[in-house]
Amino acid sequence: MQKTGKLELTWVGKYESKVIEPRILVENPELSYGDPNSENMLIHGDNLIALKALEQDYAGRIKCIYIDPPYNTGYAFTHYDDSVEHSIWLSLMRQRLEILYTLLDDDNGSLWISIDDDERDYLKVLCDEILGRANFVCSVIWQKKYSPQNDAKWLSDNHDYVLVYAKNKAVWRPNLLPRSEEANARYKNPDNDPRGPWKSGDISVKRVTPKDIYEVITPSGRRVLPPAGTSWRLSKETFDDYVADNRIWFGPDGNNVPSIKRFLSEVKDGMTSLTIWLREEVGDNQEAKREVKELNSDDVFDTPKPERLIEKILKLATKEGDLVLDSFLGSGTTAAVAHKMDRRWIGIELGNHAYTHCKVRLDKVIDGEQGGISKAVGWKGGGGYKFYELAPSLLVPNPIIPEIKQINPVYTFEMLCEAICKLEGFKYKPNGRIHGQSSEKRFIHITKEFVNGEYVNSLIATLGEGQSLLIYGTKIQSDLRLPDNIVVKKIPKDLLDKCTFESEVR
Ligand SMILES: C[S@@+](CC[C@H](N)C(=O)[O-])C[C@H]1O[C@@H](n2cnc3c(N)ncnc32)[C@H](O)[C@@H]1O
Repeated sequence: MQKTGKLELTWVGKYESKVIEPRILVENPELSYGDPNSENMLIHGDNLIALKALEQDYAGRIKCIYIDPPYNTGYAFTHYDDSVEHSIWLSLMRQRLEILYTLLDDDNGSLWISIDDDERDYLKVLCDEILGRANFVCSVIWQKKYSPQNDAKWLSDNHDYVLVYAKNKAVWRPNLLPRSEEANARYKNPDNDPRGPWKSGDISVKRVTPKDIYEVITPSGRRVLPPAGTSWRLSKETFDDYVADNRIWFGPDGNNVPSIKRFLSEVKDGMTSLTIWLREEVGDNQEAKREVKELNSDDVFDTPKPERLIEKILKLATKEGDLVLDSFLGSGTTAAVAHKMDRRWIGIELGNHAYTHCKVRLDKVIDGEQGGISKAVGWKGGGGYKFYELAPSLLVPNPIIPEIKQINPVYTFEMLCEAICKLEGFKYKPNGRIHGQSSEKRFIHITKEFVNGEYVNSLIATLGEGQSLLIYGTKIQSDLRLPDNIVVKKIPKDLLDKCTFESEVR
């Protein structure tokens, strides 16, 4: 992770974060919807734990992360609280941004964060520290409102920001946006050029290069020089070639200062995005409210984003099939838009609206709802997602002697095996007596049976040349003699420093 060096934002509690236990995710098949083979994930729970749960499988795989965290404006919205102490907000963001950073694809990953004036500058410095100041791409200004609020005490604020970072700005490039009718309409063909419509471009540049300052004689006979302090963009030789090729325009009467003809047929296959995004193009708060009202009229989500805003971000940052993540999912906009645009997605939401809004919305999307961007992208329905809950902590205090930790009684044996694999960095892949694998040659076995010499030998017999095995057991013979390729660990003793308890996570 790149550090900024001298400049650092500090606050009370910055370095107090606890190690987070990578929990397992438990699917609730009754809430999953549509295609059962879909890899899309809707996760209910705190995003810090959920992101940690995803880290092992998704590090370096996410192409676009969009987040719209609580802006910390001081309001208590119906569905979530937007008022925490400033330093707590910074700590919350820091912990989450660190994991988000590891999840981003090293070359093609980008992070987009909605924020307003309350925390924007603090968030920028924080992101500089985590993602590297050199990876800051820009700060988009989004016109979120149209009508001025005359009752505003100071100025009537009508924009938000979207901070944009690349994981690696030297390599990452946004996609071009499809050329709009409006942009194409600026190309005309007043001289009926057989190469088609064109637009005139400035032929002078703000630099003084003596060899590129020469007199041009217009067809009408007028002599022109580049304006003071500028030179022609083209050398005399190239200029003459351009004139011969009818690429220089002197105006309808042949008397204007020359300009270059830029043909529509020769421009790039798309347009580079600007950094000011107006409501006509990407929608505003009102449009977003209307969209979610159509989906959930009795309990309208307070702070949704318009689908067109997210569509523009995904157009710039992803292509079909790419993985998109939103860990502050709210009413589910990012997942809905990603789904309609044929991207794969992971959405995380802490509130009960994961059930009442995200699920309801995504089910309707899969059924082919026609609101938001549906018509523009030709959405017809289809696909699916799996609904996950976060497993509770693997270890819990013993009800009689709380200092002693024990396996959480809600864990089935399968959950225990999956959790231990995750904590030890093995991929959970049950196959006979093997529960997981961390490389071609390294395996793990977990058991509640008594682990003695005979038991270990029976496992060794299943190993191939050069393979090693980690055994986790609840009951282990004390004086076991083990060959070099076998390690035995005890449940729960050897898991204690890898687990955190519910009350310790914020
Ligand atoms: C501004 S809203 C996001 C709105 C969203 N962009 C939309 O279009 O609907 C922020 C959301 O973050 C959620 N949130 C806040 N803290 C969270 C946490 N620790 N884990 C997961 N979600 C959280 C809130 O419940 C809220 O729904």
